[in-house]
Amino acid sequence: VRSALVMWTKTNVPELSKVSVLMKQRTKVEETLRAMQHAGAGNLQVISDFDMTLTRFAHCGKRVPTTHNILDHRILIDEDCTQKMRALLNFYYPIEIDASQTSEQKLPLMVEWWTKVHHLLIQQNIQRDMLAQAVRESGVILRDGYEVFFDRLAELQVPLLIFSAGVGDILEEVVRQSRVFHPNVHVISNYMDFDDHGVLRAFKGHLIHTFNKREGALLHAANLPELQGRPNVLLLGDSLGDLTMADGVAQPHHLLTVGFLNDQVEERKESYVEAFDIVLVKDETMEVPNGVLKFIT
Ligand code: C5P
Ligand code: MG
Repeated sequence: VRSALVMWTKTNVPELSKVSVLMKQRTKVEETLRAMQHAGAGNLQVISDFDMTLTRFAHCGKRVPTTHNILDHRILIDEDCTQKMRALLNFYYPIEIDASQTSEQKLPLMVEWWTKVHHLLIQQNIQRDMLAQAVRESGVILRDGYEVFFDRLAELQVPLLIFSAGVGDILEEVVRQSRVFHPNVHVISNYMDFDDHGVLRAFKGHLIHTFNKREGALLHAANLPELQGRPNVLLLGDSLGDLTMADGVAQPHHLLTVGFLNDQVEERKESYVEAFDIVLVKDETMEVPNGVLKFIT
């Protein structure tokens, strides 16, 4: 009976047979999938990271910009700011993805990175009216199959919480320009604070960086009325820090985590397979999340 069930699931989520898929416990994944299918769309919420999870890591051999990097446009910041932000990226990004350091070790350095970059940005008199053009000209691109992902969740009225350590105003513009900012989409991120003239003066609220998403989850996600009474969670991320995005869910029943492993693959493979239920190695598509959604709803 067991092998028949396994066969049955396999044929129903064919995407899990892709070569990019790694799973430590395939049987456990299949059991979770069946339990989530049984509970249905009415009990489901999806929590996803944004940069390098909903957006592609690379396209045509070039890195796709993060929301912070979209701000690197001459209509928003000057040459000197570009240089300084790049220097910070070159110093801190390798630390962010370093497999030999723990999240706790990285945490103060991430606060340093975000704080320095936000400070630089605040000095640039960035105009809110210019953000849309910067996004249009940035080359940012969502993962292949994103329309199916966003549209299906909207159709089923399943809330999609996008939880990002990036810049919320830019993130929203990317989603809007991609024509998928449906009413079921909710965003938790770092938002810009503009003055009466539409000029950036500060960032609002508590800083969100890659390794403090748990705090944001408890502070914000736990209180979103749209997410209440939905104990099953499909979580998507590309950083080990993203695994804490569901910590605000009261009494979760079933949690299925999908991790995109984009960079430093060999160094991080083991830790990702230990931490995420499903790991997608250098997979630039939404095929697996879409296959999972199709099965459980
Ligand atoms: O949406 P997400 O939480 O993934 O956004 C955070 C990402 O933005 C980090 O993974 C980090 O590499 C990137 N970042 C950046 N420039 C900064 C700060 C963060 O590209 N100044
Ligand atoms: Mg990310």
